[in-house]
Amino acid sequence: MTSLDNFLAQALQERRENNLYRTRKMLDTAQGVFVVVDGKPCLSFCSNDYLGLANHPEVIAAFKRGADRYGVGSGASHLVSGHSRAHQQLEEELAAFVGRERALVFSSGYMANLGVISALMGKGDYVFEDKLNHASLLDAGLLSGARFQRYLHNDVDSLQKHLQKVESGTKLVVTDGVFSMDGDIADLPALAATARQHDAWLMVDDAHGFGVLGKHGAGTLEHIGMTSHDVPILMGTLGKALGTAGAFVAGSKDLIEYLIQFARTYIYTTALPPALAEATRASLKLVQEDTARRERLHNNIGEFRETAAQLDLRLLDSHTAIQPVLIGDNADVMRISTVLQQNGFLVGAIRPPTVPAGSARLRITLSADHTHDNIHRLLEAVRGVMRG
Ligand SMILES: Cc1ncc(COP(=O)(O)O)c(C=O)c1O
Repeated sequence: MTSLDNFLAQALQERRENNLYRTRKMLDTAQGVFVVVDGKPCLSFCSNDYLGLANHPEVIAAFKRGADRYGVGSGASHLVSGHSRAHQQLEEELAAFVGRERALVFSSGYMANLGVISALMGKGDYVFEDKLNHASLLDAGLLSGARFQRYLHNDVDSLQKHLQKVESGTKLVVTDGVFSMDGDIADLPALAATARQHDAWLMVDDAHGFGVLGKHGAGTLEHIGMTSHDVPILMGTLGKALGTAGAFVAGSKDLIEYLIQFARTYIYTTALPPALAEATRASLKLVQEDTARRERLHNNIGEFRETAAQLDLRLLDSHTAIQPVLIGDNADVMRISTVLQQNGFLVGAIRPPTVPAGSARLRITLSADHTHDNIHRLLEAVRGVMRG
């Protein structure tokens, strides 16, 4: 055995022993409420396709039209020759929807976060992040080379304490809008006030709020009533409620122009396929016009929480599409999710390092396309397995 073979075998063995080993499930169907996974039909409660747009006929038709017009690959990075009219139109429509001067489309949310934070921040600067921020934000803070500090979850006093210790340097506060593994909403009014008080910039990653929250679906900021004055840097993803792929950053004209010049994950990568931009334009239109979808989703969230309470299931304080059931132990959560899958229910089992040690959980996600009957059946099954 070479030293590489040894290293790999040992790391994989440790992963197994700690019940942290990850495997991939294979889908034979489109994303949706009913999926075929590893050859077996299942009712799915673990995708981020909150509005059921990933397989929507109008989104698919736009994707096909986009491929007919632009072909498949974009052929180059945005700054060379990969920036199509479809990308441009999508950016303009996203900016108008979230009420900002401009938006910039990235190939993924991970890349958007890495690109923005490492373009804005560097040595001698300070990045402050919520402990439960998404991994891409945490990685971005580390990669930026700035001093990186994490404050207690959604705790403005903890952020204050960190900020008070800083005498000079540029400061950036970064938070998820809706926390991806807990489903709770950031206390944006308090965060914005604190950031302003310390002359720090505020960035919100609204991957799980965009399309879902707010009267028009524009996200957490619309839901809470905050403007670009409060949150100058807004990031959203397109692979969740919008059902396609990619991400965007929205803000002032100069912010976007700066990112075009300096965000390395924007500059040094092939532009996402223009057909995908066309598909996203169709899904953005549905988010704005088909408001009944969002209403159905929120009605399902209410039904889920009420039924879970009647069944004495312990939920977190979440009023979004992410409804975790806290289990604690890694082996327990794996056992429960495996039995659920055997019974035809697909639910995410989330373990460290995605969540803190000792807080393994079922991450149940709801869709506008679930029926109340689907929800009741899932919850009965969860209660049955947890008691068994
Ligand atoms: C809060 C948050 N930010 C960023 C991302 C990354 O987005 P993407 O999947 O488009 O890379 C995700 C999930 O994937 C997320 O949950």
